[in-house]
Amino acid sequence: MTRITFVTPAGQRIEIDAEDGLSVMECARRTNVPGIVAECGGACSCATCHVHVDPEWCAAVGEAAGMERDMLEFAEDVRDSSRLSCQVKVAPALDGLVVHLPAGQG
Ligand code: FES
Repeated sequence: MTRITFVTPAGQRIEIDAEDGLSVMECARRTNVPGIVAECGGACSCATCHVHVDPEWCAAVGEAAGMERDMLEFAEDVRDSSRLSCQVKVAPALDGLVVHLPAGQG
């Protein structure tokens, strides 16, 4: 299990035990984290699973690329730290990961 903390726009911290091998989005949905709508079910075609990766974790998580980067153009408040959480796979190296829900989500 890998611990992930979601921080809502209001500053509430929601910690979950995420299952390695699943996406961050899938783990958020399974634990009812608010603000991760994931309309497309993880097909990288809706951008409703947008998160801002905490600055301390950007290097470990990596940047969006390819189709994900294109899809992020449809999200609001996109930053260098933006990722679609359905495209981030949970792994032990991400234990302690912190992501922030953009304003308007959560
Ligand atoms: Fe639709 Fe991530 S769930 S883009």
